[in-house]
Amino acid sequence: MIRRICKYGEPVLRRKTKNVRYEKIRDRLPAILQDMWETCGAVNGLGLAANQIGLDLRLAVIEIRKDGVPPRRLVLINPEIKEKSGVVREEEGCLSFPGLFARIKRHEKVTIAFLNEKGFPSEVSGQGLFARALQHEIDHLDGKMFTDRLPMLTRLKLKKVLRKLAPGWAKIDESELAKRTGS
Ligand code: CO
Repeated sequence: MIRRICKYGEPVLRRKTKNVRYEKIRDRLPAILQDMWETCGAVNGLGLAANQIGLDLRLAVIEIRKDGVPPRRLVLINPEIKEKSGVVREEEGCLSFPGLFARIKRHEKVTIAFLNEKGFPSEVSGQGLFARALQHEIDHLDGKMFTDRLPMLTRLKLKKVLRKLAPGWAKIDESELAKRTGS
């Protein structure tokens, strides 16, 4: 089921999510993940954090896209950054800020420890866009948004813009997309 994505200004995005106790959500997990993938896919997103659909869970999904190979889907439960190196500044967007893009400083490479969807401890290393997506989603789970990573002055200027955009964003309901496509 496609769910509505929470937008900038909604308090749930500012709260640090609770660590997942795998045994406790095992039965609900397939349905939750199904919703997350459907929602992410409906808006052609690269990743989605559980709190973006209002769930207080340290859980995120990321689609890894590479030229010439089919996309790979990664489920991250309780992800933590273990190693990081390098710094790059690239354009970034967020499903909770529809249509807004900004150049954000991130680590070039990261290694993440997490539980996979079967509950097994796993590790993944990434660079480039994938490393950026990992850091972006982990930030969400910590109650941070990408605009928090901008320099102070840019953030101050952006605040006025966000105040204008937020009421429009609040009205966007992605779950309506299902009705339009008839799925
Ligand atoms: Co985001």
